[in-house]
Amino acid sequence: MPDTVHRVAVCSASALPLGEVATVTPPGHTAISVFHTEEGLFAIDDTCTHQDASLADGWVENCAVECPLHESCFDLRTGAPSGTPAKTPVRTYAVHVVDGAVVLDLPGS
Ligand code: FES
Repeated sequence: MPDTVHRVAVCSASALPLGEVATVTPPGHTAISVFHTEEGLFAIDDTCTHQDASLADGWVENCAVECPLHESCFDLRTGAPSGTPAKTPVRTYAVHVVDGAVVLDLPGS
């Protein structure tokens, strides 16, 4: 049975211009980073699945973010790592812009 999804507004779209990233912590949730790339908006868990690094501090290129600590790259669309040392995908979240707000689909009740 799929998770229940609820939509949570996390920031205004104007606060997240192209090329920027915002890290938000919705109530009851871990930190999520929202990246505004030329391909659109993407939201992933902020913490690398290898160790405790913030992916918001990483380098973004070609719809992927490179972890600042050991340089694994994660696809912003799928969360999949493209190489070691990270082996586990980061969780991704659907992103919408609704009435000028950046809104995430989050699991939960
Ligand atoms: S902490 Fe991200 S690759 Fe090691």
